Amino acid sequence: MSEKATLEINGQKYDFPIVYGSENEKAINISSLRAVTGGVTTIDPGFKNTGSCESAITFLDGEKGILRYRGYSIEELAEKADFLEVAFLLIFGDLPTEEQLQKFHKDIKDNSIVDEDIRKILDAFPKSAHPMGVLSSLTSALTAFNPTSVNVDSEEDMYKSVVKILGKFPVLVAWTMRKKQGLPLDYGDNSLGYVENILKMMFKQPNQDYVQNPILVNALNKLLILHADHEQNCSTSTVRIVGSSHAGLFASLSSGISALWGPLHGGANQAVLEMLEAIKEDGGDTKKYMAKAKDKSDPFRLMGFGHRVYKNFDPRAKIIKVAADEVLNDLGVEDPILDIAKGLEKEALADPYFVQRKLYPNVDFYSGIIYRAMGIPVDMFTVMFALGRLPGWIGQWREMRLRKEPIGRPRQIYNGQTYRSFKSSKS
Ligand code: ACO
Repeated sequence: MSEKATLEINGQKYDFPIVYGSENEKAINISSLRAVTGGVTTIDPGFKNTGSCESAITFLDGEKGILRYRGYSIEELAEKADFLEVAFLLIFGDLPTEEQLQKFHKDIKDNSIVDEDIRKILDAFPKSAHPMGVLSSLTSALTAFNPTSVNVDSEEDMYKSVVKILGKFPVLVAWTMRKKQGLPLDYGDNSLGYVENILKMMFKQPNQDYVQNPILVNALNKLLILHADHEQNCSTSTVRIVGSSHAGLFASLSSGISALWGPLHGGANQAVLEMLEAIKEDGGDTKKYMAKAKDKSDPFRLMGFGHRVYKNFDPRAKIIKVAADEVLNDLGVEDPILDIAKGLEKEALADPYFVQRKLYPNVDFYSGIIYRAMGIPVDMFTVMFALGRLPGWIGQWREMRLRKEPIGRPRQIYNGQTYRSFKSSKS
């Protein structure tokens, strides 16, 4: 017999079915709640207990520190896969065959030209503009240059949109950074791999050849994979909810970029580095900042610590910590900030405040140290996160449309003024 949940309101009982996930997760399906109770709703600020959808893309067990894309462990993918393989896996459900992967890459390259007029939009931004705002705007602007809406029921149509955005997005990322630095903009080099091309587009100097460094290629490949999806987080939920109104793919992705920007989400990687820099400038006294983080009257939080879902080590943080050590070692970079980060982590993991609240380092705690060693400016860190998250957002958007999910429209409990009659302030 299948389990059910019974809710009692004023002596009246209502039964609700239990939904099971393939990893034995359980949820009470309350979709009939308002209808059967005559309008009773639920309230759950921040959706801490609310599943917004069923999804077959990413499995996450925050208690055990498990993360899998389409069944494959994040550890194995980060070690062995290419970013484009992971992108294909997330979006289409299975790893590509060699032939599919080659075609996928070729189609992406064939779609990497961005309309020259986009440069005019880019030129209109002040150099001081934050790259996340610029990227969100340019991604939205792509809609105007590619106005045909996607027929999600056509595999071919969907595929065309996927390769289009995967082709153009890295160009927008590179342009966003180079514009700020006053460097010329180009369209990359189609003879290169996807990740190699991103690095060249970002870093090539106009007066010298760009020489690929395999350490940087591996590090970026790994970072992009680790950021590629994370089930129903703030930006992904945003992409799904915007897309649920049948807004186009590029417009939905643009909204995801805006959601990712905030320091409580993807913007934390920039905030972590700024925090570590500030601690260094202040003499490296980690204890002082630990005390600030615990002081409820101080708004300071230990950036890169804590997670809505992980109440154990974020498995991505473990991989990135090892990668940060390797990259700095391989590049021969000595960064005192890495020592400060390790010191903070050690203290936090032994501190009752952090232990009791199950606050562990998250994906953003060490990623900025690698980005910095790669020569990426601090305000571009969250843009790099967006570059990695792109396939996840696309896969989630596609799944939401294919499953014909209804428009996202939460309810509320109104607690404002009750009826009052209008009295004009004009005499
Ligand atoms: N430093 C100090 N205290 C913290 C921190 C932190 N980084 N994170 C949580 N806490 C405390 C809170 O003050 C709260 O304490 P209380 O129970 O005494 O009131 C308790 O831990 C629970 O915190 P919430 O904010 O309720 O947890 P929530 O799940 O809403 O927030 C979040 C999660 C936003 C990630 C939070 O931990 C945070 O602000 N961390 C710092 C920012 C950060 O690193 N964000 C990146 C997240 S990963 C990502 O998005 C890719």
